[in-house]
Amino acid sequence: MHFPTSTPPGSSESMNLISALLEQRTGQQIAANRAWRIETALKPLLREKGLASLDQLVAQLVATRTGDLGDQVVDALLNQETSFFRDAAVLDMIADATKAIQDEAPDRKVRIWSSGCSTGQEPLSLAMLFDERGMGEGKAAPEIVATDVSPAALARARAGRYSQFEIQRGLPVRRMMTWFDSAGVDWAAKPELLRRIQFRQQNLTADAPPPGKFDVVLCRNVLLYFSQEVRRDVFGILASAVRPGGVLVLGAGETVIGLTDRFRPCERFRGFYRAIDATPVKQAAFG
Ligand SMILES: C[S@@+](CC[C@H](N)C(=O)[O-])C[C@H]1O[C@@H](n2cnc3c(N)ncnc32)[C@H](O)[C@@H]1O
Repeated sequence: MHFPTSTPPGSSESMNLISALLEQRTGQQIAANRAWRIETALKPLLREKGLASLDQLVAQLVATRTGDLGDQVVDALLNQETSFFRDAAVLDMIADATKAIQDEAPDRKVRIWSSGCSTGQEPLSLAMLFDERGMGEGKAAPEIVATDVSPAALARARAGRYSQFEIQRGLPVRRMMTWFDSAGVDWAAKPELLRRIQFRQQNLTADAPPPGKFDVVLCRNVLLYFSQEVRRDVFGILASAVRPGGVLVLGAGETVIGLTDRFRPCERFRGFYRAIDATPVKQAAFG
């Protein structure tokens, strides 16, 4: 079967159904001026499935109702942009804050939650930083839980295998040599680094947070495409996961201001937020 090199545009009805599927499953919205992303992101899946257009894809989604194809569509549409040591100064501050919290509570493990961790570069960067600050192993090593809604991103994170391009984006050579082995054309994170992170699937718009309270919760570059209402619910979930005295860290363009009264800017660690009460999370938020 021959496929055209450019994907025939889907009808606007198909585009609407596909964006509605994404929003329903993950809360992520695709703005009308970014609708081109649907075609671009789904092109490889159409090719793999032998489908000639988005209309055919939607027809198959409706016909099969198995959920598997829906999962693949959602996975392909998620923005999983990330890199090692993204906003490096912020990661340094997280390591400083973690060390300070750990020094105050030397008898318990400091806990970190990297939510929306994508393919793992964020938690792996933290694990490298902690090691460099004497918090790599043993009692001093923070527990790192990393979650994402995307099974495909998590599979890649668990495998710890990265292309040369991904490695070159943000990973200094010294750290690459310390923590990665060459694996054919790729690079593989050393098992002793990977095993410092527990990867789990978690949907911020449908699931409870991972059990227990966390000292540092990262939710960087995840909220950007949520509606204001979804952001409010997600802040409730994040607030319920932060230990008193702990902090929330958002991405560079993200803020809690005007969206929630569950977090306030943190005086102690500038740029971070602290949770201000322990009101139970709205049950409806867990779906
Ligand atoms: C742009 S990446 C950010 C990755 C990393 N935090 C960073 O800043 O480099 C956003 C990640 O959020 C995940 N995501 C989107 N919606 C989500 C949801 N409802 N629950 C959990 N993760 C979600 C995506 O799958 C993607 O991996």
